[in-house]
Amino acid sequence: MKLKEIIYNELSEKQGEYVSGQTLANRANVSRNAVWKAVNALKKDGCDILSVTNRGYMLVSGGALLSEAEISAYLGENVLVRVFKSIDSTNNEAKRMLSDGFSGKAIIVANEQTAGRGRLGRSFYSPGSTGIYFTVIVTPDSSLADASLITAAAAVAVVRTLKRFTDKNIGIKWVNDIYIGKKKICGILTEAVTDLENGSLSGLAVGIGINLSTEKFPEEISETASSVGIKNADRGLIAAKTAKELFTLTENLLSPEFIEEYKALSIVTGKDITYFKDGKEYAARAVDIDSRGGLVVSLPDGEKTTLRGGEISVRLK
Ligand code: BTN
Repeated sequence: MKLKEIIYNELSEKQGEYVSGQTLANRANVSRNAVWKAVNALKKDGCDILSVTNRGYMLVSGGALLSEAEISAYLGENVLVRVFKSIDSTNNEAKRMLSDGFSGKAIIVANEQTAGRGRLGRSFYSPGSTGIYFTVIVTPDSSLADASLITAAAAVAVVRTLKRFTDKNIGIKWVNDIYIGKKKICGILTEAVTDLENGSLSGLAVGIGINLSTEKFPEEISETASSVGIKNADRGLIAAKTAKELFTLTENLLSPEFIEEYKALSIVTGKDITYFKDGKEYAARAVDIDSRGGLVVSLPDGEKTTLRGGEISVRLK
């Protein structure tokens, strides 16, 4: 563990109280000057720490630090963990890693993204400290690498995790958006990277962005976006728990039992929806989610069809 992480842990155990520099120095077995340097590094990382002569240091708001060590400890040594204070996009980083030959499990976590990406070429608003943005690399057996099923697994993993942090009613809007009430609080973007030489799958980058306490959104999404409403959350733990759930769920893609859970969380089944196909808009009723995560819809003439991708619109009450 890095010194600043040891100091952060000590301060967060006593959050809201002063801890003397000497106590911290003794705990970490370093000099008081080293403690002072570590505190400054934490402040640079966005931690709100008060320093008062003769009293010591007090962590005012926790959860700011994303600790690689904490995430690693939670996920175990088989998962590569990378943490960034700021990055263009964790999905971009995952794709760079996969193109450079990485194989296995990984999580790339960022405090902030400067070019966060959403589906259909949209951007994803990713301000520092108030959300958590991460990409989980999974490498399922090629024959099972069904991106929409894995996205559905990611949605279930996010809901399972967030339910440990809030009592609010969380639902999934097919296929990849997580909602509280009528507003989106999380988006998921799954991208595949293939080996150009032999065409085989190198891995999937499952990008997840969760608005935790963001209050102000850009104009164009201010009506539709919201946050979970949890301040000072341990964001590293939220990312780590979600990744762990996702790794477990993707181990058994042949009989994806989580689909039942997904169905129970779906906020679109039973509702009238619209969708676009080949440039044409269709009105239909969402009736079911099939075993591969497809949305079964019933058309006005009674015919049923299953949507495997794209986007639907639904009016939420
Ligand atoms: C969407 O709502 O259209 C999908 C949004 C996905 C956002 C996440 S944040 C982490 C990862 N990095 C990105 O650039 N995008 C995904």
